[in-house]
Order: sequence, then C-alpha cells, then structure tokens
Amino acid sequence: MTQVADETFPLTRIREDTPGVNEVVHFNNCGSALPPTPVLETVINHLKREASIGGYEAADEAQERLNAVYDSTAKLIGSQAHEIAVIENATRAWDMAVYGYKFSPGDRVLLCRAEYVSNVIALLQLKERHQIEIVVIDDDEYGQIDLVHLEEELAKGAEMVTLTHTPTSGGLINPAERVGALCNAYDTFFVLDACQSIGQTPINVKEIGCQVLSATSRKYLRGPRGVGFLYVEESALDRIEPPFLDLRAATWTSDMGYEIVDGAKRFENWETNFAGKLGLGAAIDYALDLTVEKTSIRLKALAEILRSRLVSLNHLSIHDQGEDKGGIVTFSIEGLESEVVSQKLRAQKINTSTTAPGAARLDLDHRGIPTVVRASTHYYNSEEEVDIFVSAVDRLSN
Ligand SMILES: Cc1ncc(COP(=O)(O)O)c(C=O)c1O
Repeated sequence: MTQVADETFPLTRIREDTPGVNEVVHFNNCGSALPPTPVLETVINHLKREASIGGYEAADEAQERLNAVYDSTAKLIGSQAHEIAVIENATRAWDMAVYGYKFSPGDRVLLCRAEYVSNVIALLQLKERHQIEIVVIDDDEYGQIDLVHLEEELAKGAEMVTLTHTPTSGGLINPAERVGALCNAYDTFFVLDACQSIGQTPINVKEIGCQVLSATSRKYLRGPRGVGFLYVEESALDRIEPPFLDLRAATWTSDMGYEIVDGAKRFENWETNFAGKLGLGAAIDYALDLTVEKTSIRLKALAEILRSRLVSLNHLSIHDQGEDKGGIVTFSIEGLESEVVSQKLRAQKINTSTTAPGAARLDLDHRGIPTVVRASTHYYNSEEEVDIFVSAVDRLSN
C-alpha cells in the first residue's frame, strides 16, 4: 500500500474531524475541499443564531469573532489585519484591486501563461477601457514563468505584473518569491492570485513582496463557499481607487461629500455572508493550528505518489508542469473524454473535476492539451484513498 512517511501526522484525528470522508473519496480539493467539523459548526451555529435572534443581532453578538477573522487571515499570510478585506470570492477580490488600479494609456501589464481565466478576461476588458498593453511572459523549460523573459520585459518598463501562484489547470507552483524580487527591483506593482495556493503552500506576503493577493476560502483552506479575501499592502492603497463604494467602504460626510475608509475595508460590501466570514476564520484557525508548512508536505507527497502511479497506467498521460509541484494532478486518458472519466468516477463516489483548454488558453490550449481530469489531494486524504483512486482509474483506462 501507498505510504507517506510521517508517523507523527495526526491523520486519524483529522479524518474524524472531516465527516465527508465517510461519504466520498474526495480528490476535488482544488474545486472545493471537504470542510472540517469546526468550520461546519461555526457556519451552522451562526445561521441558527440568525434564525433565533435575527441576522443583525447575531452579527452584533459575533462582532468580536468577526474582527478576529482579520487577525487570523493576517497571521496566515504575514500581513497586518487592516490590510485584509473579506470579499465574496477570489475573483471579485482580485477585481476590486485590478479594476481599481489607476492605469494610464500605454501602461504595460505582464502576465503569466498560468493566469486564471477570469483574470485574463478582466485584463482584456481593461485593455480596451484604458488602452493598456498586455504582454504574456513565456514559460521556462519547467512550465513556470520564465524569469529571464520577465526581467527583459520589466527592463523595458512595466506598470504591473500579475501572477497566478498555482493555476487551476495543474500542479505547477510558480516561483512567486523570485517574481516578487524582480518586481521589487524594477519597482513594478505585483498582483498575486493565491486562490489555489492559499492553504496548500505556505505564503508570506512580505517574503513574496506582492502588493495585492487574492484568495478563496473553499479550496485548500477548507472553508465555506461564497467567501474569499483580498490583501492590499498598506502603502499600495493610494494606487487603487475602489471601483465600487458603499456605506462600509466610505462615509457620507456632507450632502455632496464622502470619505473612503482607512485600510482594506474600503474594498468590502456592507451586506455580507456573516456565517461564511466566520467559517473562513474557523478554517484559517484550523490551518494555523496544523500549520500549512506541515500539511503542505503531506498533500504534496500524496500528489507525487498519485502522479507516479497514474503515469504507469495504460493510455494515460499526466500534464502537470513545474519544478516544484503541488496537490493538483492533471491527466487524460487516450480515447476517453475527461468529462466522462470524471462522471464515471463520481458514480463510484470518487470526486474529481475537469479543466477545458478554453479555461486555460495560454496554458493547456497553447500546449495542445485536451480537457484534463483534475485529481487534487489534500492532507486529510488517506493512502488507502490513493489506492482506491488508482484502481478505479486503471479500470477505466484499460
Ligand atoms: C487560480 C484561480 N484563481 C482564481 C479562481 C477564482 O476563484 P473564485 O471562484 O473564488 O472566484 C480560481 C478558481 O478556481 C482559480 O483556480
């Protein structure tokens, strides 16, 4: 049987904390991971309080714990609490910063091939809106952002670099710290999409040197759906005009006057999913308690075992890139549509998801790769589940 060598890892307790593992073999962590009981209870208990005493009253009652969500998030990424905004998802978090960025015509934005589909669509719209130029940085021999090409383009002058740390479409982990160091050397604004890497890979915004980071709750953090967060470095706030302001983001100071609030809360909405926000906090506290440093080692080791076993199956190709690979394992089976593979696995209570080339045009499409199955490991997955998965795929690929 497959074994990840770490006898001290509290897998039994973690799996007891994860009710979903009794129902499914869940390798769709890059879609949405199974939440642990403390997250589930936090969300459900808040909804119950809303039903018992009223939504506004339940929020007032939870105020201290709501404030603590910012402290936990800041601790997770090495920032300050007032640099965090809680936003409904990673896309809107990223949008709030990038749509709000004060671009001038002719500004050059450099992006990586792994950039998330919605980010690219947004940049294409901003290109039309502000007459900015978009430059795609090549991949290096490992499929990571090519740092030599990046530096060449930075040297020509660039306003912003956008990097997706780990793409939706594979196991790649882009060298965020090295990109940050280059951006810093050329004084270029650095926006990091950490949607797949948050909770999967240890992240420290000061070490990375990004001015903006966007993330979600539901993936590797194991939080609820419909909530995410944005980090904006304090000193970068005046380079962004929030695209929307409401009574949480600004104060109506006179009949015709308003003032934007201090800190990153200017990117938030007044109305929000309070249960989700508390759930995000519970998920981050859970991750902090286990430490991402530790859990990352296990989930990567499981993914590596999965890759090495899948690659030996008939008619199967692995498509992951990167020198340093994470938990997302992508593959396709010759002669079998990836959607069909995923559906057949789902029928056996084995969860995966798929990514089509149209959702990764600069990556999968460019490499001529068809729709891939994504099997994404998490630290709570067991070695037995890897065995079950490989056997099920083996039956399909033969
Ligand atoms: C790399 C990456 N960025 C951004 C997103 C968007 O996240 P959300 O669905 O929370 O907006 C995803 C979602 O899969 C993603 O994989």
